[in-house]
Amino acid sequence: MNKKVILLLAGLGIALGAPITASATPQDDLKQFQAFYKKRFPTVPLEAYTDGVNVLPQYADQVENWNLLMEFPPYEMEVDKAQELWSTPFANGKTYSSCFKNGAKGLAVGYPFYDKVSKKLRTVVTDINECRVRNGEKPIKNLKYGDMARLVIAFKMLSNGQKMAVKLNSPEAIAAYEKGKQFYWARRGQLNFSCASCHVQNAGNKIRGNVLGAGLGHGVGFPVYRTKWSLKGKPLGTLHRRYGGCNKQVRAKPLKPQSEAYKNLELYEAYMNTGIPIRVPSQRM
Ligand code: HEC
Repeated sequence: MNKKVILLLAGLGIALGAPITASATPQDDLKQFQAFYKKRFPTVPLEAYTDGVNVLPQYADQVENWNLLMEFPPYEMEVDKAQELWSTPFANGKTYSSCFKNGAKGLAVGYPFYDKVSKKLRTVVTDINECRVRNGEKPIKNLKYGDMARLVIAFKMLSNGQKMAVKLNSPEAIAAYEKGKQFYWARRGQLNFSCASCHVQNAGNKIRGNVLGAGLGHGVGFPVYRTKWSLKGKPLGTLHRRYGGCNKQVRAKPLKPQSEAYKNLELYEAYMNTGIPIRVPSQRM
């Protein structure tokens, strides 16, 4: 197929097997992605997607449980621990704040980003570990829950209420974005589902009794405190813990947290969240 035909199909929303995949630029992708949900859930304003599946009309008969939990959010104690960790000095007397511009205030809206100096895609998790190493501490190994999740909470709380504004301002950033997008739309696992199969095409529908949330807002509430995870004694989860869980649901092999593929995926999702406010931590069922 020549490029013109592909673009034409993309414009009509019938691109190559899946809607809204083959558009020309990230800016076009963003417009189409957000417009898709506006059409599918006309009563849900963009900012509301911060609260995940809870905001969908299809979830209205279940949202009461979440509302009740939110009266005394179970994550409060974890927030205290997070803030204590964040402000406890390293052996050299410095703190996490010293590693980041403005003590990290307002920075979370721009993550992930491609850094030309280190030639790496940087996430909040990689930067927290790098801050530790630079200050003579060991990196944290568990990147799914526990102290890393708490530290990311402390970091992102400094941007609570601010709107996501990831920049794709280098060819490398755009290349990483394109890989993340591909990962999002590629089918995998024994069920042969892509992320989009569930969170775009079937958003609002039920699968095995669960309402599928929109792909919009993925990550702005993370790390989350999840009731399901709390039953196993590990209530907090980073975004990449959740990616692993969603890969397993279709019987695909979960990747390691902070693997290149998950970082690219996070970049794609974060860019799609442009304009959606951060709210960390969030409560999930
Ligand atoms: C078989 C269907 C299915 C597939 C495929 C799937 N997910 Fe999910 N996902 C779910 C369900 C169910 C939930 C819980 C309800 C919700 O929040 O949407 C969920 C939740 C999530 C959440 C948490 C949202 C929040 O705010 O709490 C993220 C992030 C997520 N999925 C990302 C992904 C990504 C990225 C992929 C592709 C790698 C993916 N999912 C593939 C079913 C799926």
